[in-house]
Amino acid sequence: MMRFLVLLVLAGLCVGTEWQLDDPQGEAGDSDLIPKALWAEQLSLSLLPAYSLASAPSLDPTQCLPLLHEFANSSATLSSCLVSMARPVRLCQHCYKEYVQLKATMDKIGRPLQNSTVSCSTILLQSDRVQVIVELSDFFDDLWSNSKCENCLQKNSTGVLNSTSEFMEAFDSLIQCFNSTMKEPPAPSQQGNFSRVCQNCNGSYRHLNNLYNNMEHSNALCIDIEDVMNSTRTLWSKTFNCTLPCTDTVPVIAVSAFILFLPVVFYLSSFLHSEQKKRKLILPKRFKSNANVANLPDKHN
Ligand SMILES: *[C@@H]1O[C@H](CO)[C@@H](O)[C@H](O)[C@H]1NC(C)=O
Ligand SMILES: *[C@@H]1O[C@H](CO)[C@@H](O)[C@H](O)[C@H]1NC(C)=O
Ligand SMILES: *[C@@H]1O[C@H](CO)[C@@H](O)[C@H](O)[C@H]1NC(C)=O
Ligand SMILES: *[C@@H]1O[C@H](CO)[C@@H](O)[C@H](O)[C@H]1NC(C)=O
Ligand SMILES: *[C@@H]1O[C@H](CO)[C@@H](O)[C@H](O)[C@H]1NC(C)=O
Ligand SMILES: *[C@@H]1O[C@H](CO)[C@@H](O)[C@H](O)[C@H]1NC(C)=O
Ligand SMILES: *[C@@H]1O[C@H](CO)[C@@H](O)[C@H](O)[C@H]1NC(C)=O
Ligand SMILES: *[C@@H]1O[C@H](CO)[C@@H](O)[C@H](O)[C@H]1NC(C)=O
Ligand SMILES: *[C@@H]1O[C@H](CO)[C@@H](O)[C@H](O)[C@H]1NC(C)=O
Repeated sequence: MMRFLVLLVLAGLCVGTEWQLDDPQGEAGDSDLIPKALWAEQLSLSLLPAYSLASAPSLDPTQCLPLLHEFANSSATLSSCLVSMARPVRLCQHCYKEYVQLKATMDKIGRPLQNSTVSCSTILLQSDRVQVIVELSDFFDDLWSNSKCENCLQKNSTGVLNSTSEFMEAFDSLIQCFNSTMKEPPAPSQQGNFSRVCQNCNGSYRHLNNLYNNMEHSNALCIDIEDVMNSTRTLWSKTFNCTLPCTDTVPVIAVSAFILFLPVVFYLSSFLHSEQKKRKLILPKRFKSNANVANLPDKHN
């Protein structure tokens, strides 16, 4: 409300002085009135932030332009990296530098300028309803924490953890194993006999699986690792058909045994149920006769 009043007063003052300056020049000044009023409004608007921060030293908005450009550059670089590393997922390993750069830019916006005590955050982050910079920054933060990238990076995000690079090396050697085993015979049988892949790469696969389980226990999983393991498991069990069938038969036998026992359970329970009903049918007769005797005097009254 106060801001609006100040704006009105400022605009009124500016228009008033312009009008008075124009008046001596004659009636032609009237046609310039509307553009001048607009100009005055813009001027008073641009003065407003400084006015509302009366106690703090004023800040020239142009001083914040370099920071705006820096944010534009670092957010563009980060988006480009994230999208190009989206499939197969390698965000955390390849984009952490760009993310750190963006966070540093946001830090700079929040910090006071060189010869001043005010920061650009009021001008760049809080001056309008949409707040583009804040929205973008929040979006990147959400994506980063959803991906759990911190689990795969060193404390400062200064590098990739040893466990992460060890896992990626194990994955590379497994892929090498797949690749070389598949390549050896150009076409062994038209259907593709993958059992040799299962035998040759058994050790590499188990090693990768063990690493993954260890990392899961020590909470060192990020989206890169999860995606590698997910796709490797799919490859191993679906494409190469390497999972042992006996793991599948156990539940099948259990379910069939359960279903075979269902009729027995049904007949047993219905037999027991009918026995109970018989007793219930017999018992009330006695109670009923007693009750009738007890109720007789009441009913006749
Ligand atoms: C960001 O700035 C660097 C130099 O500081 C420049 O090399 C790069 O091309 C810029 N990136 C974009 C997307 O403008
Ligand atoms: C900061 O102040 C110093 C001296 O007071 C001046 O030389 C320098 O250009 C100023 N820097 C900015 C960014 O205004
Ligand atoms: C974190 O970064 C700071 C400088 O940015 C460095 O001094 C410090 O040693 C780093 N800590 C670790 C654990 O790497
Ligand atoms: C990570 O690996 C590097 C070399 O591969 C080694 O120098 C460093 O000590 C290892 N760090 C930890 C915490 O194991
Ligand atoms: C698999 O082998 C082919 C043919 O040698 C090669 O072009 C390709 O890069 C290899 N892929 C991997 C992941 O090693
Ligand atoms: C795959 O190869 C093994 C021997 O290496 C053989 O016993 C088996 O019958 C083959 N399966 C198919 C589908 O060709
Ligand atoms: C994989 O290796 C383990 C021992 O290293 C062995 O028990 C298992 O039978 C092997 N599986 C296949 C499919 O070769
Ligand atoms: C694993 O991959 C399948 C498709 O390949 C996907 O639907 C599923 O969400 C993935 N799971 C995880 C935990 O990434
Ligand atoms: C996997 O193996 C089973 C039998 O062991 C077979 O019925 C099935 O068709 C195989 N699937 C593929 C994709 O090779």
